[in-house]
Amino acid sequence: MDKKYLEDLLLKMTLDEKISQMMQLSPIFFKGTEMQGEITGPMEELHLTEEIIKNAGSVLGSSSKKDMLQIQEAHMETNRLGIPLIFMADIIHGHKTIFPIPLALGASFSEEIVGEMARVSALEASASGHHVTFSPMVDLVRDPRWGRVMESTGEDPHLNSRLGAAMVKGYQGENLLEDHTRLAACVKHFAAYGAPQGGREYHTVDMSMREFYQNYLPAYEAALEAGAKMVMTSFNVLDGVPATMNKWLNRDVLRKELGFSGVLISDWGAVKEVINHGTAANTKEAAKGAVLAGVDLEMMTECYITSLKELVESGEVAESLVDEAVMRMLVLKNDLGLFEDPYRGLKVSERTGDILSARNRQAARRVATESAVLLKNNQNILPLSTDQKVAFIGPLAESKDVLGGWVVYGEKSDAVSIYDAFSGKFSETKFVTTDYETISEADYKRAEDAAKDADVIVLCVGEKSEWSGEAASLATIRLPEAQYELCKRIAAANSSVVTVLFNGRPLDIKELVQNSEAVLDVFFPGTEAGNAIFDLLTGKVNPSGKLSMTIPQTTGQIPIFYNELRTGRPKTEQNAGEKYLSQYLDIPNEPLFPFGFGLSYTHFALTDIKMKKEIAVGESLTVDVTVQNTGECAGSEVVQVYLFDVTASVSRPQKELKAFQKVYLESGEKTTLSFILNEKDFSFYLPDLKVVQEEGIHHVFVGTSSCDVKSFEVRVVR
Ligand code: BGC
Repeated sequence: MDKKYLEDLLLKMTLDEKISQMMQLSPIFFKGTEMQGEITGPMEELHLTEEIIKNAGSVLGSSSKKDMLQIQEAHMETNRLGIPLIFMADIIHGHKTIFPIPLALGASFSEEIVGEMARVSALEASASGHHVTFSPMVDLVRDPRWGRVMESTGEDPHLNSRLGAAMVKGYQGENLLEDHTRLAACVKHFAAYGAPQGGREYHTVDMSMREFYQNYLPAYEAALEAGAKMVMTSFNVLDGVPATMNKWLNRDVLRKELGFSGVLISDWGAVKEVINHGTAANTKEAAKGAVLAGVDLEMMTECYITSLKELVESGEVAESLVDEAVMRMLVLKNDLGLFEDPYRGLKVSERTGDILSARNRQAARRVATESAVLLKNNQNILPLSTDQKVAFIGPLAESKDVLGGWVVYGEKSDAVSIYDAFSGKFSETKFVTTDYETISEADYKRAEDAAKDADVIVLCVGEKSEWSGEAASLATIRLPEAQYELCKRIAAANSSVVTVLFNGRPLDIKELVQNSEAVLDVFFPGTEAGNAIFDLLTGKVNPSGKLSMTIPQTTGQIPIFYNELRTGRPKTEQNAGEKYLSQYLDIPNEPLFPFGFGLSYTHFALTDIKMKKEIAVGESLTVDVTVQNTGECAGSEVVQVYLFDVTASVSRPQKELKAFQKVYLESGEKTTLSFILNEKDFSFYLPDLKVVQEEGIHHVFVGTSSCDVKSFEVRVVR
């Protein structure tokens, strides 16, 4: 439909109809679902009437295509102006075919891989009738106590920006209107939700504006530049004002500075929660705050429904603000072609073949192999050979809890466990499953006996899916102690231990690393977990993931991230042992494993690194690097380029990722990569938020991890 159609529609809408359009509800409230009839309680709680529901704008988290079809059919019969509902859901790392968690996707360091996850997610979810996904979450994260680090691509603004943009493109494709295998993307959580104090969920966020602009804002910006149709507000306050009623954040930064013109939705209940934050006395003030801040769609609370009309009639809120919000909703529906076809994705029975297909599973398997990180491999204990006797021991040896958090539609029963993938594939395979938390003496004994009898042990340890994700903060980032004990006892019985670690966050894994010859961090790999782990452990695929988030030595090091600032009292090799230094008395300053780190079964050499020694302000710097696979087997390497501004008006991080490329090379093969660092890469924010590029000496670091780099000096002159 054209703009005129939408404008006419808006003119025809009553104020009540418009306000209802600004509300998102779960499916239970709608006619046509089986749950109708049981909802009097929740309806009363939200002050809903049938009239309001008839005019509602959107539905959150529908569970079945059948339900959605019935809801839409009933809605199209009762909605006076024939405005279709739009269905939104959390499709975070796969719909039915589940891909690795986003923290692992970050470790792929690959836009192609992340885009593939998003494409398949959209293919499946759109075939099930969904229109919008609440993804990507591009919140920068530096604190693994926060359970939602699993849903982020990590701690780096550049990596998050590129991968966030790739996800948006993967979901939305080239032509959302015509291509019904796509979803609209909703970038979240605006803004800075990834920095709650103490890593405690829903807690205060407070940071300098310079920090906000420099490190937190870029990934949202990149996802919007990639064309994301929606943005979700965050639960937290920023500078004391809840994001959901933060006019400066949403109107000045999001709309004006970032140029976003799509739908801004609140997070679940976040409009009403501003009362708990103490910035509104009641639902009326909450509604006013949110609408003035430009929140178009209220998720799952009733502030708009109960108060907006009164606010408009009393003149406290201009009706034009309501019109603006409703128009954005209509535009989004129109962008998805819902006025022409309200049943997009709902009636197409032949598309059932798009769901959990062999091709989708194959994609998930490939993505999972690209997202695991090999942390240790002493004496090349890996890859395993199939003539070995292997004992698989631990809570995850046979478990199908391999999907990770934020899986709404995927089923564990569709997942491939380690048991499923490895049974009978070696000269002998034995499986000893233990509990995650309490391991009995009898089970330790069974495990030790199996270990003694094997050539190599694959210790399958880690978290349960529900231990990370939303509302899953931890004060201590450790596994249950029994798992460390299991590792110790197994290693004492037979030192050939290969640990496969399942986790939704960086964990304190020192003891596991000490007691294992090899450690493969698979995070939560998704539906094809077992098969992907099989590919990696047997060397069918060479590990190539790089950590997207630092692994600390222990909880007390948090927050720890590679792009930290310097200190006036740095600890160096020369001054080791002195007291008045920036250091811990009990542990090193360095993390256990740094950002960008990950091993391979082969070796790569970086040679012929060339760049100019001097550039003018505003000029781009080209860095050429020859990378050669000098080992015995094929594999991929991620070449990483970091910048360091030695002296500037403000203290600059000791290293910042500015470019990377992942490249696949056969044994012996070499290639030359070019990286271009432009003016923006050399620029930074001053305290008054002006962006500058300053002259002076910069170091360019080129390497294969943030801690394994070669350094080059480049002078920027005027
Ligand atoms: C989460 C969002 C999510 C929403 C809808 C909230 O609790 O913070 O990320 O999209 O629920 O399920």
